[in-house]
Amino acid sequence: MQEIRFIPKAYTSSVEDGSFTWTSPSNIALVKYWGKKEHQIPENPSVSFTLDNCKTTTILSFSKKEKQDNFSFDVFLDGDKKDDFKPKIETFFKRIEVYLPFLKNYHFKIETSNTFPHSSGIASSASGMSALAMCLMSLEKLLIESDVAMSTDENTINDGFFIQKASFLARLGSGSACRSLEGDLVVWGKHHEIEGSSDLFGVKYPFEVHENFKNYRDTILLVDKGEKQVSSSVGHNLMYGHPFAQERFKQAHKNLSSLINVFKEGDLDTFIEIVESEALTLHAMMMTSMPYFILMKPNTLEIINKIWSFRQTTNSKVCFTLDAGANVHVLYPESESEQVCEFIKNELVAFCQKGQYINDKIGFGAKQL
Ligand code: DP6
Repeated sequence: MQEIRFIPKAYTSSVEDGSFTWTSPSNIALVKYWGKKEHQIPENPSVSFTLDNCKTTTILSFSKKEKQDNFSFDVFLDGDKKDDFKPKIETFFKRIEVYLPFLKNYHFKIETSNTFPHSSGIASSASGMSALAMCLMSLEKLLIESDVAMSTDENTINDGFFIQKASFLARLGSGSACRSLEGDLVVWGKHHEIEGSSDLFGVKYPFEVHENFKNYRDTILLVDKGEKQVSSSVGHNLMYGHPFAQERFKQAHKNLSSLINVFKEGDLDTFIEIVESEALTLHAMMMTSMPYFILMKPNTLEIINKIWSFRQTTNSKVCFTLDAGANVHVLYPESESEQVCEFIKNELVAFCQKGQYINDKIGFGAKQL
């Protein structure tokens, strides 16, 4: 059981109070995670581009409390108290308590803000949970490294372990969050050709990546900013007993295998094929589950069709991917950014709610502020 590695020895140090601030990005999956087993173990491996502009910044302030009988915390979004965020964080704390046994020793103030609008339909769970996991790891590092009762060998947390455990914890908050910590391309889930890949945490994609993918662009078109019709947990559950589930999980392994060569050779045509097929498969799974959902909106389809005809007439390598919602992520190489931005402005913005979209590109993960 690899999880045991993440259970620390008892801390004896007494840090009274303090605070840490981390900023962490969202990510967009190319091969999708859809379906999980118990304890947030994915049914198939996934790979994502880390984003750069869509980020959450979290300040975690902590002060020691008298009684250690329960979790005690308050959550704020942009300065406003958000009690409706508490159940998700309470569940997160329960799941990770065994790995961070100090959680009941402190009262926490969690102050968070996103660079993207909260109700934009852009999921904040990946950036939010990864930023919180990094803050908690900073506190664990402080507790361990200030522990005089431990030997010097025992009381250091190296950077590799820090990130790995943060990713492990973030996964227990929200699966895709474990892919937001470090690296521009991140793999989560055991894949036989990717050494070091794990169901427990994300790892930096370890192989060669062609120049074509450097600074890859992602423009997120906000088609529908409403509340999600289906929460991701409900969505993942739909894969239990789904008639096509086993084939889908096999397909994800195969697509990730094919991407290894695509990344190496810079083969954008095959990249497009895999990425668009993954997006449509994700939605096909939702349309064919019981109960069934259609999360695309008419404008999602308008945009997809526009992208396809633009590609046909211009030979551009622009393509799209989707999350579990109606918004469209438009992906394109840096070398095409001028012409694709023009195309977006002229032909796609009309299909966005209030003409809203967000320009983003590949980023490199979380940062301490
Ligand atoms: C469609 O990570 O939000 O974005 O583990 O239940 O929090 P939970 O799910 P979540 O699921 C994301 C699903 C997806 C695909 C992906 O990001 O791989």
